[in-house]
Amino acid sequence: MSHAKPAAVMILAAGAGTRMKSATPKVLHEISGRSLLQHALVAAAALEPGRTVVVVRHDRERVAAHVAQIAPHVLLADQDDVPGTGRAVFCGISALDATAIAAQVANGGAGNNSVLDTQIDGAIVVTSGDVPLVDGELLGSFVDAHNTAGNAVSVLTARVGDPTGYGRIVRDDSTGEVLAIVEHKDANPAERGIDEINSGIYIFDAAALRASLARVGTDNSQGEMYLTDVIAIAREDGGRVGAMIAPDASAVEGVNDRVHLAAAASALNRRIVEGWMREGVTIQDPATTWIDSDVALSADVTILPGTQLKGATTVATGAVVGPDTTLTDVEVGAGATVLRSHGSLAVIAAGAVVGPFSYLRPGTELGVDGKIGAFVETKNAKIGAGSKVPHLSYVGDATVGEGTNIGAATIFVNYDGVNKHHAHVGNHVRIGSDNTLIAPLTIGDGAYSGAGTTIRHDVPAGALAINSSPQQNIEGWVQRRRPGSSSAEAAARAAETDGPLDGLSSGAQEERASAAADNKGEE
Ligand code: UD1
Ligand code: MG
Repeated sequence: MSHAKPAAVMILAAGAGTRMKSATPKVLHEISGRSLLQHALVAAAALEPGRTVVVVRHDRERVAAHVAQIAPHVLLADQDDVPGTGRAVFCGISALDATAIAAQVANGGAGNNSVLDTQIDGAIVVTSGDVPLVDGELLGSFVDAHNTAGNAVSVLTARVGDPTGYGRIVRDDSTGEVLAIVEHKDANPAERGIDEINSGIYIFDAAALRASLARVGTDNSQGEMYLTDVIAIAREDGGRVGAMIAPDASAVEGVNDRVHLAAAASALNRRIVEGWMREGVTIQDPATTWIDSDVALSADVTILPGTQLKGATTVATGAVVGPDTTLTDVEVGAGATVLRSHGSLAVIAAGAVVGPFSYLRPGTELGVDGKIGAFVETKNAKIGAGSKVPHLSYVGDATVGEGTNIGAATIFVNYDGVNKHHAHVGNHVRIGSDNTLIAPLTIGDGAYSGAGTTIRHDVPAGALAINSSPQQNIEGWVQRRRPGSSSAEAAARAAETDGPLDGLSSGAQEERASAAADNKGEE
């Protein structure tokens, strides 16, 4: 980015977020696959600041752990017992100054300077952990405006239809200069009529900020140290105060409750979806397509309605995903098709076909031109190039070679009640329909199995595995044992057309078959 880099970005995230009514801190709520705080951190990182600091207090350990995970180099500053955004910034500056001292000491003291440089100086961008639509581009243009004007303090503002709840920007009637920010709760009726609001995003010259903050009191309706008081104080001190009006007011809206959260989620999603359409992705129904911030799509991908692409999902050119498909951390290869399915942590190679109604669990890898058809569940399953699992199957803890076909309704039995076991199926194998493959086992290349086989042992290459018992037909059974039923009547009509039934079986055999049909037999 060509903008001058600020000395620091400070993200305020110490508030309780009471209006969310949540056990989860507000800044950890997610939209587009990132926490609200992560959106702020990503926007901050685009400015390439000297340092980034997040001010924490409410639910400190959870917020701190999250920051350590997603942005380990970011500093944390603890806000003390004094409430208010002004105090939060004071605590943030103290933490930044502490690192300035530490850096000097680490570099062996003041070097050529006679005194230690114990304070951070230059531009400090202050933003909030609850404004997820503010991106690096908006912050960058704000930094440019601040530097061009040579301001001591700049505030990012917006003109909104309903300014209720926001701080109002009070300007000089004749010159238009920013005089002060008045909080909604402290505003008089004339001030409440102002439609220009404070976004809560500012850029301060560090020295001017320190000087002004020292004079901020708590004499207001909330008994808090308001950061917004710095504006009037800095002006009294002779500093230049300016404002930039955000071109898109909706981009600076903060999230305070779940209604705002949903609105921000859909606005951000709209932005992401439109961005991909401009990159050459066909998205048939933007309103029902949800794409996380970290998803990557290629030109000439087609996304059909009702599709959610989450996490680090990638989709290569020519692939068609949807309708009604949810993929989380899934890699979809070029020209692949994924129809009405659900997948996570899976790889679908180029030209492969998935769905409808299949469930690809973590560790699924479907090879080039492979198929996972309808009503199939897979887990930790590598299915080789050109291999097919077309219908109604479970494939868990398995390796399937290339060019193999798994017959309909085949179940890989991977769990003995205590441990999971792996099944290896070779290349160009033909597993018959309704097989049960009891792992651990290995089926050699080119082997076959008959329909309905329960495979308990290894099958050598080229062998036919079969263990179903011979079929018996007990003629006339239905008319004798189910007389008067619709089946018996149908059988009687068939007999009239096809000739009389023959071959009545022996009594003992029939008893056994009847018992089985009545579902009370011993077998
Ligand atoms: C604040 C501004 C208001 C502006 C609005 C924009 C003040 C006094 N008011 O009001 O002018 O229009 O944001 O959304 O600054 N925070 C702390 N420590 C605290 C209090 C808050 O870190 O002691 C953090 C919060 O976590 C949040 C941010 O500061 O990220 C703003 O706090 P919030 O309580 O939402 O302020 P608003 O009432 O919205
Ligand atoms: Mg707020």
